[in-house]
Amino acid sequence: MELHTVSLVLILCGILALTELDGCLGHLDDHHHVGCTDVERNALLQFKNGITDDPSGRLSSWAGQDCCIWRGVSCDNTTGHVIKLNLRNASPFSYHGNGQGYELYGEIDSSSLVVLKHLNYLDLSYNHFIMPPGQNLSFIGSLWNLRYLNLSSGISFEGVDPFDNIRNLSRLRYLDLNYNHASVRNGTISSLHWLPGLTSLEYLDLGGWNLSEVSPYLFQTANSTLPKLQELHLSGCQIDNLPPLVNLASLMVLDLSANNLNFSLPNWLFNLKSLVHLNLHAINSHGPLPDIRDSTGGQLSKNMGNLCNLQTLDLSGNHISGEITNFLESLSRCSNSSIESLDLSNNELVGYLPNSLGFIKSLKFLNLNTNFFQGSIPSSIGNLISLEEVDLSYNNMSSIPKTLGQLAKLTVLDISQNFWEGVITEAHLMNLSSLKQLRINQYSSAVSLVFSIGPDWTPPFKLRDLDIQSCQLGPKFPTWLKNQNELINVILSNATISDIVPKWFWQLDLLLDLLDFSLNNIRGEVPDSRFKWNANSRVSLVSNNFDGPLPLFSPNITWLYLSRNQFSGAIPSNIEVMTFLRELDISHNSLNGSIPSLLVI
Ligand SMILES: *[C@@H]1O[C@H](CO)[C@@H](O)[C@H](O)[C@H]1NC(C)=O
Ligand SMILES: *[C@@H]1O[C@H](CO)[C@@H](O)[C@H](O)[C@H]1NC(C)=O
Ligand SMILES: *[C@@H]1O[C@H](CO)[C@@H](O)[C@H](O)[C@H]1NC(C)=O
Ligand SMILES: *[C@@H]1O[C@H](CO)[C@@H](O)[C@H](O)[C@H]1NC(C)=O
Ligand SMILES: *[C@@H]1O[C@H](CO)[C@@H](O)[C@H](O)[C@H]1NC(C)=O
Ligand SMILES: *[C@@H]1O[C@H](CO)[C@@H](O)[C@H](O)[C@H]1NC(C)=O
Ligand SMILES: *[C@@H]1O[C@H](CO)[C@@H](O)[C@H](O)[C@H]1NC(C)=O
Ligand SMILES: *[C@@H]1O[C@H](CO)[C@@H](O)[C@H](O)[C@H]1NC(C)=O
Ligand SMILES: *[C@@H]1O[C@H](CO)[C@@H](O)[C@H](O)[C@H]1NC(C)=O
Ligand SMILES: *[C@@H]1O[C@H](CO)[C@@H](O)[C@H](O)[C@H]1NC(C)=O
Ligand SMILES: *[C@@H]1O[C@H](CO)[C@@H](O)[C@H](O)[C@H]1NC(C)=O
Ligand SMILES: *[C@@H]1O[C@H](CO)[C@@H](O)[C@H](O)[C@H]1NC(C)=O
Repeated sequence: MELHTVSLVLILCGILALTELDGCLGHLDDHHHVGCTDVERNALLQFKNGITDDPSGRLSSWAGQDCCIWRGVSCDNTTGHVIKLNLRNASPFSYHGNGQGYELYGEIDSSSLVVLKHLNYLDLSYNHFIMPPGQNLSFIGSLWNLRYLNLSSGISFEGVDPFDNIRNLSRLRYLDLNYNHASVRNGTISSLHWLPGLTSLEYLDLGGWNLSEVSPYLFQTANSTLPKLQELHLSGCQIDNLPPLVNLASLMVLDLSANNLNFSLPNWLFNLKSLVHLNLHAINSHGPLPDIRDSTGGQLSKNMGNLCNLQTLDLSGNHISGEITNFLESLSRCSNSSIESLDLSNNELVGYLPNSLGFIKSLKFLNLNTNFFQGSIPSSIGNLISLEEVDLSYNNMSSIPKTLGQLAKLTVLDISQNFWEGVITEAHLMNLSSLKQLRINQYSSAVSLVFSIGPDWTPPFKLRDLDIQSCQLGPKFPTWLKNQNELINVILSNATISDIVPKWFWQLDLLLDLLDFSLNNIRGEVPDSRFKWNANSRVSLVSNNFDGPLPLFSPNITWLYLSRNQFSGAIPSNIEVMTFLRELDISHNSLNGSIPSLLVI
């Protein structure tokens, strides 16, 4: 068998060009696949030589004859040529030891990579490569086979316009030059004359580059000569003008976030037929939501523009004003709407949420925080059975329907900072079996939200974050916390609790970040608990009637606020067990004795 393999290879070598010969010979000592060529191996080693820092040892496998098995390198298994080089830093935002990241650091010798003529995939993203003095990135223009080029936050160009020579890359489908997280952030692209050459382009990300001078040319080129473009990412590019891109029939993703477009949302944006994800976060848009109603007032169908095809729409962080009714009604009239994520937070929207909200059945994420919505959450919200996250915080709303309790997939419910009135009953929470985060931190005002939940009720959820403030939760301590053994953050503040904390609570097997019982009328001693605490944890029992000795907690408590209680006796001398304590407030208690020298600065 082996003999056959070898002779077959020799035949293949015979018909290959002379320059390929060393690749074939390299193969002879390896019967399983064609090894890499000496030329390409040496080029890779030369590249490795320039790298002075490799904190996680990613290039430690770069040794030995067969570069095709080196980490990050892939070869064509018939020719042995290196076709893929993937040096992406997979954990760009994590750090080890002394705060150092995992990025490769070093100089790219352009004469090394330029040898890899068969490369069709090059990913150097999230590293810190620099070009040696006098060299530049022009070599990339001769890697004609490239289909995928990702230099996202990978190379510091330090002011040199680096893309001069890539106009020849007519096979390139993905070009990611996002600069938003680059170590050196100082890039202006002053010419895009190379862009029309990239006729196969499907994905373009120039995020973070200053495109203020070239954006008109960019849009014009995209609109006329990049027919395959599916994704255009231009976040944070100092773009101040957006012409109608009505020709971009294949465009599925458009990200213009963090530019200063300073306009009123144009209707054409909502008529791009293929658009699925539209991100217009923080573009300084003002004026009303677009008016998409069709003339007949009937159902909107998929081919009536993209509103019914959109999956995510982010208009947050603008100055969009007026009512939401017509817009939601248009969405609700899509015969088959696709919208899963709608973010209109941080705008200036007013008025009521219409009942038609309940027809947008595909909705999973709804974020309307920080607007001026008022009135009731429409009871039709109970129909949105796919809802996973709802944020209505920082509005001016007043009433919560029972139907909310039907949302079995809801994991996050944040309705803080409103003016809720009425009563929360078991029905409001009845089927919230997926809920992990519940925030009802009411604006302090005369109006009040009352919890009326029976002592025997067992919730269907296991919360991680519970934040109830300035509501009438008491006077009894909520017994429905009995089965809540996954809590991490517990805030029951200014919640009219006038009770002792039951023993079972302190015995819950919790790993906590925060416990805040402040501003109640809770009495009794604080016993030793079973709680474990994460690093940098906080405890506040401020303004209650706790008594007995001053309680000590885990070493991991960093902030401990016990003021305005009835704690008595001496400050425990072993207070030093709380080794990470940074702030301690024990004022306004009935303590006596002396202050341990440890606490005196
Ligand atoms: C090359 O190898 C890959 C994965 O090992 C395999 O999927 C592919 O079919 C091979 N191609 C050829 C031409 O042998
Ligand atoms: C480029 O790499 C970055 C991070 O390594 C990644 O987030 C991004 O999706 C990649 N771009 C493309 C087009 O795959
Ligand atoms: C980039 O480098 C090439 C040769 O490597 C050189 O011909 C060209 O002038 C350089 N371009 C700039 C802008 O320095
Ligand atoms: C681009 O292609 C042309 C012809 O196809 C060639 O003459 C030129 O040298 C190429 N430029 C680069 C930078 O590779
Ligand atoms: C940006 O780069 C240019 C050219 O290298 C340099 O003159 C300028 O000082 C840099 N600006 C900043 C803010 O780093
Ligand atoms: C962006 O580029 C333009 C034109 O080159 C320049 O006027 C502007 O100051 C640049 N913006 C920043 C933030 O550097
Ligand atoms: C895009 O193309 C359409 C139709 O060819 C044209 O009307 C429009 O002005 C173009 N937009 C830009 C920005 O070039
Ligand atoms: C936005 O445009 C208006 C005119 O429509 C102008 O008065 C205002 O100064 C612009 N604001 C910014 C920040 O460019
Ligand atoms: C609705 O859209 C989904 C996915 O977008 C699709 O699978 C389904 O066939 C569509 N139904 C109708 C009636 O168009
Ligand atoms: C909030 O609602 C109250 C009545 O419930 C109203 O008086 C007040 O003007 C509203 N505030 C805003 C900013 O809409
Ligand atoms: C406590 O909550 C009530 C409403 O129940 C509110 O009126 C009061 O201002 C709140 N106090 C503080 C200190 O937040
Ligand atoms: C303190 O926090 C660290 C990190 O979360 C954890 O590993 C450790 O077990 C905690 N110590 C205690 C006593 O809870």
